[in-house]
Amino acid sequence: MGNKNENATDGRQMLYSDTLLDHFRNPRNYGSLPSPDVAYEEFNPLCGDRIRIELKISDNRIAAARFVGDGCAISIAAASLLTELVLGVEIASGALISDEELIASLKSDIKPSRMKCALLPLEALRSCVKVYRRPKTGA
Ligand code: FES
Repeated sequence: MGNKNENATDGRQMLYSDTLLDHFRNPRNYGSLPSPDVAYEEFNPLCGDRIRIELKISDNRIAAARFVGDGCAISIAAASLLTELVLGVEIASGALISDEELIASLKSDIKPSRMKCALLPLEALRSCVKVYRRPKTGA
């Protein structure tokens, strides 16, 4: 996880809020669920980084969310925040959380060139929900 060295020495840290840095350094809900109901891994083709989201679903709501992956500070912090934001959210609503909400939660100046980093975990989450809601066949 997080093998990118994004610290103060190159000046970029000024763009990152305390919230972002805290979630990058101390990611919440990092690790795998013992028996997830659904999991999906997305990767960023621009850099090859990967974020896998795992969910436990109960009564059509997200009862637990965890993530594993290898990414930059923005993608790890976004994954960490996302796993907190979606707890209890009804998956049938289709809304889950918007791009704007997740970006806002990072409280940082995310440049257009880094949007893919910030939204990578959300793409994985949306794919999880799609897979989970897909009609089961062959039963
Ligand atoms: Fe790869 Fe951000 S640089 S996800």
